[in-house]
Amino acid sequence: MLVLEDVHAHYGSAHVLHGISLQVNAGKIVCLLGRNGAGKSTTLKTIMGVVQPSAGKISFKGETISGLSPHVIATRGLAWVPEDRRVFASLSVEENIRVAGQAISGNSAARIAEALDFFPDLKARMDQRAGSLSGGQQQMLTIARALASKPDLILLDEPTEGLSPIMVSVIRDGIVKSRERGASILLVEQNFALATEVAEEFFVMSRGTIVYRGTRDELLSAPEVIKEHLGVGKAKSSAVDHHSKG
Ligand SMILES: Nc1ncnc2c1ncn2[C@@H]1O[C@H](COP(=O)(O)OP(=O)(O)OP(=O)(O)O)[C@@H](O)[C@H]1O
Ligand SMILES: [Mg+2]
Repeated sequence: MLVLEDVHAHYGSAHVLHGISLQVNAGKIVCLLGRNGAGKSTTLKTIMGVVQPSAGKISFKGETISGLSPHVIATRGLAWVPEDRRVFASLSVEENIRVAGQAISGNSAARIAEALDFFPDLKARMDQRAGSLSGGQQQMLTIARALASKPDLILLDEPTEGLSPIMVSVIRDGIVKSRERGASILLVEQNFALATEVAEEFFVMSRGTIVYRGTRDELLSAPEVIKEHLGVGKAKSSAVDHHSKG
């Protein structure tokens, strides 16, 4: 469904992606792992066209998308939830979702209801200003907003970073539920326990290249990969062993 072939990317003169090749097949949760600064977020930005690839090819559902603008790429069925978790603070929960749904495909109450279905906690807060939500609720909102466009593939950048254990499991349930409804997901996640719980296929990045590719079982039986490329501090031993910030 999504194919990257030898993709390079630069920030100015800094060469950050050095020939990334990866695939996400329909209906799968694929996880991109790697230490801080490895190039995970840049890979997602390059898929979305926010960073233009300097070489290589990206195709989605059989069509080339590299070179297109982010807006056009979004209309092709890709949604991106960036790591900065930005919501429209002065708008309500409902308005935040409505704005996103409209940008892609017209206003639809059913679509908003469906997106909220993933996060019941938000349903009760439809009229609340997004700026007054907790960090975890804002993260739910950014994911619900992405789901409102009914994407074929969602790019999720560290959705559980800094969240409390309860919020981590709410986000995990939302991820699993959206996959059950047919969405494919490319997940960037440093919570190793959560990643191996929800994803079935893994790519590990280091310094702008893919250094490992394997299934969940293969990765779990490759302790040297985990040790060398994922780091002790970041590869959490438990999905709920996370510091709380919201
Ligand atoms: N806007 C930018 N301008 C210049 N360099 C950047 C920019 N954004 C990221 N970089 C650099 O590109 C490299 C890859 O960064 P990227 O954000 O993709 O890493 P990451 O794997 O997502 O890391 P993290 O786990 O910290 O989110 C890093 O060396 C980073 O310093
Ligand atoms: Mg990042």
